[in-house]
Amino acid sequence: MTVPELRIGDLVARVPIVQGGMGVRISLSSLAAAVASEGGIGTISSIGLGALEEGGQEYERMSREALREEIRRAQEMTDGILAVNFMGAVRNVENLVRTAVDAGIQMIVFGAGLPMRLPEIVPDPSVNLVPIVSSARAADLILRAWTKRYGRIASAFVLEGPLAGGHLGFSREELQRPEDFALDKLLLDLLETLRPYQDRSGSEIPVIAGGGVYDGKDVARMLRLGASGVQMATRFVCTWECDASMAFKQAYLDAREDDIVIIKSPVGLPGRAIRNRFLEEIEKVDRAKVYCPYHCLTACKVSEAKFCIAEALLNAWRGDVDHGLVFCGQNAHRIDKILSVKELMAELVGELEAALVEEP
Ligand SMILES: Cc1cc2nc3c(=O)[nH]c(=O)nc-3n(C[C@H](O)[C@H](O)[C@H](O)COP(=O)(O)O)c2cc1C
Repeated sequence: MTVPELRIGDLVARVPIVQGGMGVRISLSSLAAAVASEGGIGTISSIGLGALEEGGQEYERMSREALREEIRRAQEMTDGILAVNFMGAVRNVENLVRTAVDAGIQMIVFGAGLPMRLPEIVPDPSVNLVPIVSSARAADLILRAWTKRYGRIASAFVLEGPLAGGHLGFSREELQRPEDFALDKLLLDLLETLRPYQDRSGSEIPVIAGGGVYDGKDVARMLRLGASGVQMATRFVCTWECDASMAFKQAYLDAREDDIVIIKSPVGLPGRAIRNRFLEEIEKVDRAKVYCPYHCLTACKVSEAKFCIAEALLNAWRGDVDHGLVFCGQNAHRIDKILSVKELMAELVGELEAALVEEP
């Protein structure tokens, strides 16, 4: 059986695997271009690209310039499909989205907040708008608002389940009830919710399911359940092309299952990360005085924060993991070697092909 293509609007990916956006600076042009060249969709993260210490408008200008440069580099490396990931909680997100569209990006992936006004920022219907949701209810709210205000529907949804890396769209309490929020269950709910919108518009709304998808067998399971593709991030960290430092990748290789923990991010959301010296130090303090040169995240509660998340993520990216926050998905502990993106994609596609011919 051949591997089904992933179609989003006019875009056709030969392999139904989207490499999820990873901030800060973990998925930039190198990783995204490598995945796109192997037939998947490569996602550049737009988060935290400026020099934090500059602050204010200068930080925003640098972020836009750096994003433009990452997109240009990726486009130079590949003819494959590139997306850019945005977080609703980022202060200058609207200008970043405009920058990406201006640079020729055809797929805008938007998470951490409901993108109610996104069609207003990107009126061109040929640019694919792909919100990230963690529930059918969120998708319904977006679609209801978009159809009413703009006569537009989403080009696809990324459905992110509770085993994902980075910030999570679930409360701590929900994360302790995995049976109620399993990705399989969320997927069936979402597909059901999308049906009337698809019937009314006559267009398909593909669902890309992610969070804990680890191998080709997992991909096959998601496709069988009705997903059109999967989003994977953790597996792509341990590739030579991933834009993170070697120390960041080594933290994944060294992690054991019980090192993977849920933290409270200053953004107010839970996040998944690898327990390390940084997290141990943070646990010891009640309150820390956080110096905030630039309020990069609108949702960040600086007065209550124990650390600056932008700085902690930058330290980890750079390789100073003892002072850094190493975000990861629940399955990071299963990775034991670094591969090239070509090798990883070939492994995943081989496993997927084998799983598709087996009985479910
Ligand atoms: C290191 C890391 C950073 C991430 N950063 C972001 C981000 O900035 N924005 C976002 O929407 N998702 C982010 N994610 C989530 C991924 O894009 C993806 O949806 C999720 O991790 C998929 O699950 P998996 O890691 O088990 O494959 C991040 C994940 C990781 C592992």
